[in-house]
Amino acid sequence: MHLSTGILKSSLPAFIFFLLIQTSIAQNRPGAAFSPTDSIKVETLLSQMTLDEKVGQLSLFASGWEVTGPAMNTRYKQLIRDGKVGAILNASTPDYVKKLQKMAVEESRLKIPLLFGYDVIHGYRTIFPIPLGQAASWDLDAIEKADRIAAGEASAEGICWTFAPMVDISRDPRWGRVSEGAGEDPFLGSRIAEARVRGFQGTGYEDGRHILACAKHFAAYGDPMAGRDYNVVDISPASLYEYYLPPYKACVDAGVATVMTSFNEINGMPSTCNSWLLTDLLRKEWGFNGFVVTDWTSINELVEHGVAEDLKSAAELSLNAGVDMDMMGSTFLDYLPGLVKENKVKISDIDRAVRYILRAKIQVGLFDDPYRFCNQQREQSEIMTKESLEFARKLVSESCVLLKNDNRTLPVPQRVRTLAVIGPLGDAKKEMLGNWNAAGDWKNCITLLEGIRNKCKGSVNVSFEKGCNINDKDLSGIEAAVKLAQKADYVILALGESGEMSGEAASRSDIDLPGVQNQLADAVINSGKPTAVVLFNGRPLSISHLEAIAPAILETWFGGTQAGNGITDVLFGDVNPSGKITMSFPRNTGQIPVFYSRKNTGRPFKSDQPDEKYVSRYLDCPVTPLYPFGFGLSYTNFSYSGIKALVKGNEITVSASVTNTGERDGEEIVQLYIQDKVGSITRPLKELKGFKKLLIRKGQTVQVTFTLSADDLSFYHPDLKKYWEPGEFNAFVGGSSATVISATFRL
Ligand code: NOJ
Repeated sequence: MHLSTGILKSSLPAFIFFLLIQTSIAQNRPGAAFSPTDSIKVETLLSQMTLDEKVGQLSLFASGWEVTGPAMNTRYKQLIRDGKVGAILNASTPDYVKKLQKMAVEESRLKIPLLFGYDVIHGYRTIFPIPLGQAASWDLDAIEKADRIAAGEASAEGICWTFAPMVDISRDPRWGRVSEGAGEDPFLGSRIAEARVRGFQGTGYEDGRHILACAKHFAAYGDPMAGRDYNVVDISPASLYEYYLPPYKACVDAGVATVMTSFNEINGMPSTCNSWLLTDLLRKEWGFNGFVVTDWTSINELVEHGVAEDLKSAAELSLNAGVDMDMMGSTFLDYLPGLVKENKVKISDIDRAVRYILRAKIQVGLFDDPYRFCNQQREQSEIMTKESLEFARKLVSESCVLLKNDNRTLPVPQRVRTLAVIGPLGDAKKEMLGNWNAAGDWKNCITLLEGIRNKCKGSVNVSFEKGCNINDKDLSGIEAAVKLAQKADYVILALGESGEMSGEAASRSDIDLPGVQNQLADAVINSGKPTAVVLFNGRPLSISHLEAIAPAILETWFGGTQAGNGITDVLFGDVNPSGKITMSFPRNTGQIPVFYSRKNTGRPFKSDQPDEKYVSRYLDCPVTPLYPFGFGLSYTNFSYSGIKALVKGNEITVSASVTNTGERDGEEIVQLYIQDKVGSITRPLKELKGFKKLLIRKGQTVQVTFTLSADDLSFYHPDLKKYWEPGEFNAFVGGSSATVISATFRL
């Protein structure tokens, strides 16, 4: 029997201990309420804990690195032994985690195991496409599976908690963290959020291959002013409820184990001390029963925000607002005991937080076996398996979005014998991982050049020139690139950002191609050779110039370990692209925010009156995005017809026919949008309400049917009540938010 169970045994009557033994992890389904047996365990421990040990449970510290490998600073090691740490971040590998866990369960007084958290954002060792890329697949099963594989790998290396999914909706591609999310739409974002929670947590933790998830960053971190990371968020309550909150709520409904507060303020109140957000909404209204962790030192930052005069009052504000665990700030550890003595913090509120944290530890099975996630044998046999790599390759190709394809430039024609791969992203191993790459090793990544060479072995002569760097002013390589292009039958031009140009603290004020890449593109495309551009980036880019000159553009994001192979499958037509962007691509940075679910205004721009001045428009740029939400081409064509909207009671059925009119089989993501034509308050021109990804054989017509209830048409009113209003609606069905057919119905 494990030591911590032993401690419990000695202090409990036999019949309660019997009850405890009966508690299996199986009872701890994600999102389930406290079971009586959990409560007994927790209350027993709580009754034995000193105040210092309690606040210790509320404290998370990070492990560091030294040249010799992972290392923990001496203060933190002592704190673990003193029972004053609840969780560790950034520790991994079975041996190292075991070593730290041993300190907790063998050397601390109460032997409470530690949680080990890690940023497993898009894979652990097998790295999948960045989340924005995965979202472009609109394939919920595949997204769930990627996180299941990630959880399986991470859990073999000691990790039992991931700081994912990030479910922040964003309409601002200047904000670098859009790479970590699912894009601009709350409906799609919510479905992906649920899928990701299911992927990480499964239906429980019995198999030791699932881990606690964390919905972040609560809330509205995706709407920083001017797209600058960590900046102020100023948002109307209706927008907050309607666009930004739904994916977090979806995570709570899916049973997410933890929620992370965001760095930002919302309308003057930083999330990390926002009692309305953390207690009234999250706990009372939504019924969240996991624990709330801050983001990295975000309690301390309340002083910089100007709502706390010092760290002590910052700790007071946060705990009282509903924060349970302090990430890296040490404010709870340092100040809560004093605050209790001064009656500024109630011991019952500290107990509340301890209960949630202990319960997560019970839930994930650490009290049954604190080393259950340190599994050398699984580490050997279940990490980067052939199946995982094959699946990663498939997900890369599913994430690719064909943005332009004039004259069927793609797929690469079979007659091509000499192929030039040109561009700073053409053979950039390190960049393939994108940002947040957990334990992924860039040396395992397949670059585009490698992928193409794997495919072309013997049949096509493939050469490479970098042409320029990703982000500097050096033009000296362009000449050699042009020479190579001139000698080739076909050019693949790999352009974009570096992996670190998106992600945290990576906002950009101009999101066109960085450096001299547009000049490289001009020069290479001018050579007159058929050219397909392959884009690598962590956000929508404003590539109006490239769009004007390039015959074909394939968006590939950062694909991870199998990037080059998966992209090659699409380039050569082994896979027909089916991805659709989940964030609008602006024409230029000044157009931001540009998103599909906009409202009409009283003076909308009308394309049949292009010269009308006093309308909502720009003098120098159209109002529409370069590529709209939901857009993506295929190597075949789909046509839509026969849309019908029928109402029966409170149920609406919208159906349409989709025909594959091209010459090959293809998958189409069929999208349903709704417009409430007249409301008591203004409504968006279109809102996504459903989607289906279908394989349609060449020449085949399929009938697609969506069923909605009247409640699906409800929206938040100024009093923040959500209900629908009778009247006339438009239903739109199509292959993007811009290309649709419509029908009208009345409810
Ligand atoms: C800060 C980031 O905002 C958050 O997303 C991440 O989980 C933590 N650091 C921990 O690394």
